[in-house]
Amino acid sequence: MLETPFTRVVGCEVPIQQAGMGGVATPPLALAVCAAGALGMVTATLVPAAELTRILGAMQRTARGPFGVNFLLPFLEKRECVAIAARSARVVEFFWGAPDPTLVAEVHAEGALAVWQVGSAEEARAAEGAGCELVVAQGQEAGGHVRGRLGLLSLLDAVLGAVSVPVVAAGGIATPRAMAAALAAGAAAVRVGTRFVTAQESGAHPGYVKALLAAGAEDTVLTDTFSVLWPNAPHRVLRSCVEAAREFPRDVTGEVEIAGGQRIPVPRFGVLCPTRETTGEIEAMAQYAGESVGQVCAVQPAAAIVEELCQEAERLLRAAAPAP
Ligand SMILES: Cc1cc2nc3c(=O)[nH]c(=O)nc-3n(C[C@H](O)[C@H](O)[C@H](O)COP(=O)(O)O)c2cc1C
Repeated sequence: MLETPFTRVVGCEVPIQQAGMGGVATPPLALAVCAAGALGMVTATLVPAAELTRILGAMQRTARGPFGVNFLLPFLEKRECVAIAARSARVVEFFWGAPDPTLVAEVHAEGALAVWQVGSAEEARAAEGAGCELVVAQGQEAGGHVRGRLGLLSLLDAVLGAVSVPVVAAGGIATPRAMAAALAAGAAAVRVGTRFVTAQESGAHPGYVKALLAAGAEDTVLTDTFSVLWPNAPHRVLRSCVEAAREFPRDVTGEVEIAGGQRIPVPRFGVLCPTRETTGEIEAMAQYAGESVGQVCAVQPAAAIVEELCQEAERLLRAAAPAP
């Protein structure tokens, strides 16, 4: 019952995409998601070409199922990275910028699928026009940077009416009920971010995970507070980290390790979220969280999250539409 145009196009077993999520979406998380039958994603943001080649080569050797690579356009300096990603991964995905047919063509030239995460029906049409095989409709309930202005259901409705390629629903989905609702509305898959931040295999700092587990659905805020390195880009975070960052007395909140092992300072109001390698005032760093955070209550293996979502969503869909 959970076979959809998404599972057929991507070649995975279940209609779940783990969101690309900066330093949180590590290879161990993506590989665990793939092994569970869903689409695991890693980030290419701030990853040098040689390091990306090494990471994706290792993933290709061990992945049990297709995986994807996520690019944030404001940080895409070397277009050669797109070709590197497309040579190894089934899916190459872009976010935060006008859909670009030349980038899509580079992905296709290496044999991968091109995906664009969008925040409006207009942007979805442009992504389809640029040649993307899938679009992700991101509602403003989403954790992390939020592209559009609509809640997921309104946006999904508009995007489904605007394009004929399969649409993945993103934003606030952490439970089987939300997954079943998105699929019943016509989404070909759901994209899950915040719930995977607390997966056992995630790269998130334990202090960040603890804050997510303690938070309720009303404890997030859409803000432009964490804008150093990436201005004019609204994002949804825990309200507590906005307050802590505003009160923090110094210009640097800590240190973070980026790909290749280099350690760099985290400026106050910096865009990087705290990973396992981050040190310093974790509470005052960008703790991205969707409204789904209220449903995120335990640290679990990624496979258990995928299994729970699929089994129960399938049961709900069957109950809503009993076989004749
Ligand atoms: C910690 C975190 C980091 C994120 N980083 C990225 C990113 O690097 N690239 C991207 O396309 N989306 C990013 N997002 C947004 C997700 O792609 C997705 O839209 C969002 O997580 C969906 O909402 P949810 O968190 O309620 O599941 C991030 C989200 C979170 C929670």
